[in-house]
Amino acid sequence: MPQENKINTALITGASAGIGKAITKLFIDKGFIVIAVARNITKLAKLKSEVSEPANCHTYSCDVSEPREIKKVFAEILEEHPVIDMLVNNAGVFIPGAISQEKEGIYEQTMKTNIDSAYHISRYCLNYMPNGSYIFNMCSTASKVGYPDGGSYCISKFALLGLTKALRLELEGKIAVSAVMPGATLTNSWAGTTEPKSRFMRPEDVALSIWAAWQIRKHTVMEEILLRPHLGDF
Ligand SMILES: NC(=O)c1ccc[n+]([C@@H]2O[C@H](COP(=O)([O-])OP(=O)(O)OC[C@H]3O[C@@H](n4cnc5c(N)ncnc54)[C@H](OP(=O)(O)O)[C@@H]3O)[C@@H](O)[C@H]2O)c1
Repeated sequence: MPQENKINTALITGASAGIGKAITKLFIDKGFIVIAVARNITKLAKLKSEVSEPANCHTYSCDVSEPREIKKVFAEILEEHPVIDMLVNNAGVFIPGAISQEKEGIYEQTMKTNIDSAYHISRYCLNYMPNGSYIFNMCSTASKVGYPDGGSYCISKFALLGLTKALRLELEGKIAVSAVMPGATLTNSWAGTTEPKSRFMRPEDVALSIWAAWQIRKHTVMEEILLRPHLGDF
């Protein structure tokens, strides 16, 4: 069960922007060491320069849609950080479009990034996660309901919820597992949108919901964290 007063280590994928960046910043503020994973080293360097304790932010470049790259980079990460207290499978792509209209390859790219990565990374990390640790999978409201323009994204997020539910039961009593399911959140995923900014949730709010689940983990697992903007979906 969780030990109080130890320095915890969180591994966050897709940490260089949007929701992942907000989670990284918050957990470093809270005293965590964060292993921040994304592809772009310039964005990772910027993240490190922006967090409150740069020495506690360890950045690794990895394309998580490539299993061979995951294997190589995670061997390095887990050798350097052999205890992972919190894993956030957050990296994802959102390419809107109807299933009947999507360009060839969108399905494969989306599934590799949004679901295969979480499967492989969870399997690598599990042996390094002690009892009392926590896995958060960044699902979506698109894990619960289909959208006309949801296409492959929706398929991948339903699958990620399936992975979360299976892991939750598999790890019951040892490692907590939660599905985080945000609605529209103001990040680069929405670049070019004509919706007013006020219509969106903030990435910082999603980060705070993870912090709330982490804090109550001793007795309680928040299995599903479903978040929507005040005015609902659009
Ligand atoms: N924003 C929303 O409205 C919303 C709602 C529900 C769920 N979500 C989910 O929340 C997660 C984060 O979304 P966001 O809106 O914060 O997106 P974002 O601002 O576009 O950030 C995506 C992050 O994932 C990383 N990433 C993308 N592909 C990657 C890959 N192949 N390998 C490694 N890292 C990769 C990006 O960094 P690099 O480009 O440097 O790799 C970046 O750090 C996603 O899973 C998304 O589906 C978002």
